[in-house]
Amino acid sequence: MDVFYKGTSLTYKIIGGLLDFYFFSGPDPLDVVDQYTALIGRPAPMPYWSLGFHQCRWGYKDLSVVEGVVEGYRKANIPLDVIWNDDDHMDAAKDFTLDPINYPHSKLLEFLDQIHAQGMKYIVLIDPGISVNPSYGVYQRGMQKDVFIKLDGEPYLAQVWPGPVYFPDFLNPNGVSWWVDEISRFHQLVPVDGLWIDMNEASNFCAGKCVIPTTHKCPEKFSTTPNWTCCLDCKDLTSTRWDNPPYKINASGKSAPLGYNTIATSAMHYDGVLEYNAHSLYGLSHAIATHKALLGLDGKRPFILSRSTFVGSGSYAAHWTGDNKGTWEDLKYSISTMLNFGLFGVPMVGSDICGFYPAVVPLEEICSRWIELGAFYPFSRDHANFASPRQELYQWNSVAKSARNALGLRYKLLPYLYTLIYEAHLTGAPVARPVFFSFPEFTPSYGLSTQFMLGPGVMVSPVLEQGATSVKAMFPQGTWYNLFDMTKVVISKDASLITLDAPLNEINVHVCQGIVLAMQRGGLISKEARQTPFTLVIAFPYGTDGAEAKGKVYVDDDERPEMTLVEGEATYVEFVANVKGKTVTITSSVQMGTYSLSKGLMIEKMSVLGLQGKAKELAIEVDGMALGNTSSVYFNHFGEVQQGLVERGNKKGMLVELKGLELPLGKSFSMSWQME
Ligand code: NOJ
Repeated sequence: MDVFYKGTSLTYKIIGGLLDFYFFSGPDPLDVVDQYTALIGRPAPMPYWSLGFHQCRWGYKDLSVVEGVVEGYRKANIPLDVIWNDDDHMDAAKDFTLDPINYPHSKLLEFLDQIHAQGMKYIVLIDPGISVNPSYGVYQRGMQKDVFIKLDGEPYLAQVWPGPVYFPDFLNPNGVSWWVDEISRFHQLVPVDGLWIDMNEASNFCAGKCVIPTTHKCPEKFSTTPNWTCCLDCKDLTSTRWDNPPYKINASGKSAPLGYNTIATSAMHYDGVLEYNAHSLYGLSHAIATHKALLGLDGKRPFILSRSTFVGSGSYAAHWTGDNKGTWEDLKYSISTMLNFGLFGVPMVGSDICGFYPAVVPLEEICSRWIELGAFYPFSRDHANFASPRQELYQWNSVAKSARNALGLRYKLLPYLYTLIYEAHLTGAPVARPVFFSFPEFTPSYGLSTQFMLGPGVMVSPVLEQGATSVKAMFPQGTWYNLFDMTKVVISKDASLITLDAPLNEINVHVCQGIVLAMQRGGLISKEARQTPFTLVIAFPYGTDGAEAKGKVYVDDDERPEMTLVEGEATYVEFVANVKGKTVTITSSVQMGTYSLSKGLMIEKMSVLGLQGKAKELAIEVDGMALGNTSSVYFNHFGEVQQGLVERGNKKGMLVELKGLELPLGKSFSMSWQME
């Protein structure tokens, strides 16, 4: 079927089948996603480290290049959690193998020992297509177990990077157990921390019914330059209604058969299931099998990145938006694509930062802007094509500066992002959401896809245009504090666009009034950042004497597969702050405090925004016991307000900072003081 949405109408063009419609009544946007993901499956828990920054590239030709990249990030002081290999580590593009010359096994293990010791992670790519090669163990075992999709009783022949391939059938229980076993064998060889499953639409460089040619070699020779010209001998399949149904979908802009550049639609899966009916499930079934394999390894929480997704994929995998271009248009487009996947129940999503295909030359300016935006994608990875110029963030000083700035904030926000992953897992709530998700009444934001929210309270307003040094942004009514400099405040009264400064190395990220944000000190790697003390940023409306702010934080050990509140394994704390007249109170309520207490996590600081005047008479109680006044209270910061400020100048203090606290995260506390 083809489905067309035109804003006011939805058209289904169908030639048969059953139509099952589900309606999710909300009423709020978050309710709709909650109801939808209750049906299709909740988003998967993600390991903490996967919220760190990732670097990848197709064309890291040998291990020394990869080592150089890790070193490049270290020297430039740019955070990096995960280093990736595309298919370059493989022997002739064959899954689960190592190139003995460019990625020698012992050297790779040494490298992994080193990065693992620092807490960094390593992910490699695998494709579903298995090289047809009688001397290749993965192929041999697959043939023995009869795991491949068939056409006319024979494994269906296709072509991908290694040349001729067969596609495993992940709907076949034998296919799944064989795949699980192959991943386990590979993991014994190379202790990878996650898997990237690519080309799983499935992508085929040929079409129709193919055989290995007798007249020429296919591929001619395996070269390091990838080649996607079909070298098999193929003929179109037109004789069946599955290959040639009476409706053309215009595949790849051609009036080609339905199975063009994928698996022929008359091919057969396990138990007589036609590819015609199962096509869209290929990537999902691939993710499910891969998830099962990773879970079975050492019981750690799996991380899988999949290119193809379907309804329900978010329960198993993260997603990146595929082969984009390094253009301003694609930079902008990445926002709406990311927001869509949040609605689809795949909240761990991002686009290739700086673009996959090179387009804008030089890349420097767009790469700066891209990392500023990409630092706030839920899944944040720089990836490039083999033909692209190098685009690691340290390649240019100016991009490195933007990266340190934007990723610096991301790493401070990791506890917030991780708590959002937890909420996504419980309720489907997207991590990156459209502004109207938090402000359903604010109708001017309905069409807004140049800004977005992280969770309920953080607004990201990126620069998406070449040469711009300011950005016009829309804010729902209320007070918004710039997270890079909390004395910069936006007070919005309506939907008018507000011009914000945005020099090349800066992005605007604001926290909204009514929010308590749990942040940490940040760092260059999430393993260290997550052990640092917390700051609570408490955002009241500017100049208020009656308001409430709320927030929460979830922490756990991301080595375990579940993301559940279990005593000793996870802690959940809610914070509530109030101003009533002259009295300010902040309280925490704790569920399952022993985990965070055992990790020694502390709150060291409160930054309270929006108050006026001086603070005095601070009292703190922990677990009902009064503490001495160990902290100093600062109230001398003054704000610069960009729009519609009622009070400006040096009379009204608006940032009260309580520093030097040692409040254990995991104990209930209550804190109050008076404003003069
Ligand atoms: C296609 C993927 O979309 C891309 O990210 C990857 O680099 C290539 N396949 C090569 O594996």
